[in-house]
Amino acid sequence: MDIFRKKSIDSIHRGIESKNLKRTLGAVDLVLLGIGCVIGTGIFVLTGIAAARYAGPGITISFIIAGIACIFTALAYAELAAAVPASGTVYAYSYVSLGEIFAWLAGWSLILEYSVGASAVAAGWSGYLTELMRSAGLTLPEALSKIPADGGLINLPAALVVLLIMGLLVVGTKESATLNKILVFVKLAVIFLFIILAAPAVNTINWEPLLPFGLLGVAQGASIIFFAYTGFDVAATAAEECRNPNRDLPIGIIGSLVICTILYIVVAAIMTGVVSYTALDTPAPVTYALNAIGQGLGSAIVGVGAIAGITTVLLVLMFGQSRLLFSMSRDGLIPERICKVHHKFGTPHLITLIVGLSVALVAGFMPMGDMAELANVCILFVFILAAIGVLVLRIRSPDLKRPFRCPALPIISAAAIFSCSYLIFSLSSGTWYKFVIWCLAGLLIYFGYSCHKSHLNKKRAPIPP
Ligand code: ALA
Repeated sequence: MDIFRKKSIDSIHRGIESKNLKRTLGAVDLVLLGIGCVIGTGIFVLTGIAAARYAGPGITISFIIAGIACIFTALAYAELAAAVPASGTVYAYSYVSLGEIFAWLAGWSLILEYSVGASAVAAGWSGYLTELMRSAGLTLPEALSKIPADGGLINLPAALVVLLIMGLLVVGTKESATLNKILVFVKLAVIFLFIILAAPAVNTINWEPLLPFGLLGVAQGASIIFFAYTGFDVAATAAEECRNPNRDLPIGIIGSLVICTILYIVVAAIMTGVVSYTALDTPAPVTYALNAIGQGLGSAIVGVGAIAGITTVLLVLMFGQSRLLFSMSRDGLIPERICKVHHKFGTPHLITLIVGLSVALVAGFMPMGDMAELANVCILFVFILAAIGVLVLRIRSPDLKRPFRCPALPIISAAAIFSCSYLIFSLSSGTWYKFVIWCLAGLLIYFGYSCHKSHLNKKRAPIPP
């Protein structure tokens, strides 16, 4: 058995033609889908935690470092996404460039990344909701708003919002994309409102000392808030539902990332400029900063917008997760029964239900910070595979039609691999161990089930006369 067997790009194109996902998304939908997934818990919650615990006001530099790593990766990513426009992103790209075992590892890591990432996002959502309700005089019982590790029973708001999004995704992409569009505009509006209200209150004294935890703290901060950037790749998971993937995908990925990078740097600088970084370790640091400068009404409006904004992240992450599993089951690597597309809604409803229930379970019971770190190590590993895959594909298939060519590819790829590895090594060792255990479990499943059921395996069987 050849674990390095590869799918042909033609077969991917044929697969896309033969199945039934509706092609409803355009370039603007993709930029919004990207922003919808990128701006969320990372900027609204983790910025405060990372500034208070790791980077201090140097969190702005952390955002620059993580943003640069993402831009290198996004350039390589966009070439792959346009040349191999299939659901499943790096899973699909690795299948044509590096071989099945790497595709499996990429897919397996992405499954964990989307699940724990969505759960962390739901926990951030719940933090803002609980905070907003508290300031309105409605305090949820701790048993229903905290996970067992924090003295509660279940984080019920987090689990419920996941189930709600699951319902939307079952009903259909177009409906979900429309809601996503409205929520993205709300989110951008409240970020601009925060900038307008808080910028005049910046006191540069708060930026001193700039690096209270040294350069190491800045690197650790970058490895944590990298979470804020994850999601630009999810626009690529919708490749099969794009009207014109060759043009729209690069616009969607790079456009959403550039917009988010600029906003993050500005928001982080302002947030650490209006209050001391030591005070930002709260569930809702953006609204905390506004309250601290006497902008109570603005704080409430931004809080509502943050909840809306974080909702879109959940929507897109769960969308990406179900489409990834859809691709893997279609290739035979996970059971195909769950791959069926609903006759009326045109969505992979069974997979969507499985994803929703698992994410709700994790969100209801697990701590947020660990989940964000775990999501980061998974996605950074996957980005490294993508950066290698794009190089390999250039060498193996030089004539492949590439609607978008990454400029100075060897340099950009090397820079992406280096910067993602640097961020992985800045994460805690506990996170690496969890990731290694997850990968080992994945390899067991691959050798015990997936490599035998793989459709590429069947193709190798002798053809009957
Ligand atoms: N980037 C997304 C967020 O910050 C996952 O919530």
